[in-house]
Amino acid sequence: MATPLLAALVAASLLASPAPAESTTSGGGTIVFTTLGRSRYEFDIFSLPLTPSPAAAGELRLTDGVSVNYNGNFAAAASDSVLFVSERNGSLNLYLSPIPSSRREALESSSSSSPAAANLSPLLPWEPIALKDRPSLTPDGSHLVYVSTAVPAEEPRSSWAAVYSTELSTGLTRRLTPVGVADFSPAVSPSGDWTAVASPGEAGWNGEVEDLRTDIYVFLTGDGSRRSLAIHDGGWPSWADETTLFFHRRDSDGWYGVYRAEISITGDEADTVSVERITPPGFHAFTPAASPGAPGLVSVATRRPGSDYRHIEVIDVSGDGENAYFEVTKTVSPHAHHFNPFISPDGDRVGYHRCRGIRNGGGDAPLLLESIKIPGESRPPAEKLSLFRIDGSFPSFSHDGKKIAFVGLPGLYVVNSDGSGGRREIFSGNAFPTSWDWKRKNVIYTSIGPDFATERTQVDVVAITLATTNNNDDDDDVTISIKKLTTGGENNAFPSPSPDGKWVVFRSGRSGHKNLYIMDAVDGEEGGIRRLTDGPWSDTMCNWSPNGEWIAFASDRHNPGGGSFAIYMVHPNGTGLRRVVHSGDGGRTNHPWFSPDSKSIVFTSDYAAVSAEPVSNPHHYQPYGEIYTINIDGNNIRRLTHNSFEDGTPSWTPNFLEPKDVGEKLQASGRCAFQDCHWLNIEDDAQPEELIYGKSC
Ligand SMILES: *[C@@H]1O[C@H](CO)[C@@H](O)[C@H](O)[C@H]1NC(C)=O
Ligand SMILES: *[C@@H]1O[C@H](CO)[C@@H](O)[C@H](O)[C@H]1NC(C)=O
Repeated sequence: MATPLLAALVAASLLASPAPAESTTSGGGTIVFTTLGRSRYEFDIFSLPLTPSPAAAGELRLTDGVSVNYNGNFAAAASDSVLFVSERNGSLNLYLSPIPSSRREALESSSSSSPAAANLSPLLPWEPIALKDRPSLTPDGSHLVYVSTAVPAEEPRSSWAAVYSTELSTGLTRRLTPVGVADFSPAVSPSGDWTAVASPGEAGWNGEVEDLRTDIYVFLTGDGSRRSLAIHDGGWPSWADETTLFFHRRDSDGWYGVYRAEISITGDEADTVSVERITPPGFHAFTPAASPGAPGLVSVATRRPGSDYRHIEVIDVSGDGENAYFEVTKTVSPHAHHFNPFISPDGDRVGYHRCRGIRNGGGDAPLLLESIKIPGESRPPAEKLSLFRIDGSFPSFSHDGKKIAFVGLPGLYVVNSDGSGGRREIFSGNAFPTSWDWKRKNVIYTSIGPDFATERTQVDVVAITLATTNNNDDDDDVTISIKKLTTGGENNAFPSPSPDGKWVVFRSGRSGHKNLYIMDAVDGEEGGIRRLTDGPWSDTMCNWSPNGEWIAFASDRHNPGGGSFAIYMVHPNGTGLRRVVHSGDGGRTNHPWFSPDSKSIVFTSDYAAVSAEPVSNPHHYQPYGEIYTINIDGNNIRRLTHNSFEDGTPSWTPNFLEPKDVGEKLQASGRCAFQDCHWLNIEDDAQPEELIYGKSC
């Protein structure tokens, strides 16, 4: 769509991108990947009266129960519409939804009153598909201010997150964040004149996945000018009035605290007049929200000792003495995590998002495959490519495209790729990853044992043969045999078969270092084994190209033990070693998988750093993980996913699956079984025993 907005973004993109990619991604088909936990939760935006311990009946669901809806905000000056982020239709966008009945009617008709699935249109109906987050509307309703990752950063390992403002009537869009800098968590002041953001500034990103250690900058909402540093060390700003900002900071005592700052803006400088910690050490308080409609009150999310859950509380900071606290969500949904509060302009209600599955019924069975839109590109139309998120880790397609194997950590499952028949458990222990033999079509390779383990840990490569007893592929009736291919048990993992069906490449820790070996595909080590790589570093996550010419793998050989991984390729005879992708110093690039034509590789990487403050999301081990493709000559890196989640373990099949969601027929358990950020844990056992889905290394 050639809107002025798109034109602006394209222009910005050309300016910002040092080497505009003009070549194409080779190879169509389908890419499938994992997002840590994401398939297991469905968020909606809710609100409660801003009073101590409100009645459960006062809770209103403000969004329509479709997709994942989060980071809500009331439209400035009006408490009757909610602005939010949603991932519907395969990409993140911003939506504005009227709050249905009058508030009084809605309150009287109890919490079951919630909007029916509304036919909402995205506020920004344009390409490119990219993260859009933390929306605000200016008080006159004319401009939307938000974060987008639409424009690539100049350097690898720099966040693409930047603040934009779009005039809704014309679509005209302006980048408010200077090129070369990332901004998160924008907040527009009550007058609309100023916007505050959390930004790492010139320092960029150092690999941090917990507290990003941002500073707070303010600038004019109109054009981003008069940008100045207002507060050292702080994130998630929220305005109480034109000169008072609340924000959070993780203090040296380890606790997140909420702070109040008085600032003054004179000329081109913002100055801090005073900064005061509002919440004492001893519990975490973060993501504050204030509103001119609720003077003297600030709403925060907390994690308190003795509570396994993130709850919304309100602090009365108006008195001279000690601040008074009151609970908002604990009495209503005690066993749910509540995120990122916001207060209505009239000060009557506090909003937040949480899983809708806990009090409002179970929700739908999780999608097996969620179709994700691919950002616009110049691939020949004949090469159709689709992209899916799967509810599982290490997915791989059978070579006829009809089945997908994946793991649950623990558990190994096979499903039909059209979703029919439900998931069948093939192995109940811990297994990772999966790959299918090219010739013997019912053989899946995996490794059995703990993931993320040391060189000497007992992990073995196995071949699992699925055989239907009645020979008609009726999947209900399957016998399984498991054959161990390695004997040493010293962390033998990541098997990938050669296309001629004769060999399997895998990594092993048998020498004391993780290096690559090739063994007989049928008889395993006993049928013959040779070493492919040799050195005091880690070579791992290998994948054999469909044309047989190359083995791609992840390695830290450029800095052994330093935690940085890049993708390398080598011929199966050991020649031709080269590095394909390196995400800058300290970067992490993992899980390579060849395209069907062997000319490009899909992988996961921290190439675009982190796209939101991690504390504003559920737990992700590696919140920078996004999916990319690159040509094997190292050219034409392309980002396929844009979100603030951990995306990993991609694989690629030549079989093109129509880009539409695939539901699952069997009821799966574990809805809303996600975890709050582990690094907020107060006691070691503070986390409920829930599934950790989709670790990716
Ligand atoms: C989302 O996708 C559905 C089905 O593909 C379509 O009917 C609907 O119009 C789309 N909605 C938006 C907001 O794009
Ligand atoms: C190694 O394999 C590559 C790719 O198959 C081939 O081009 C090369 O000639 C081989 N080198 C040797 C020494 O066999």
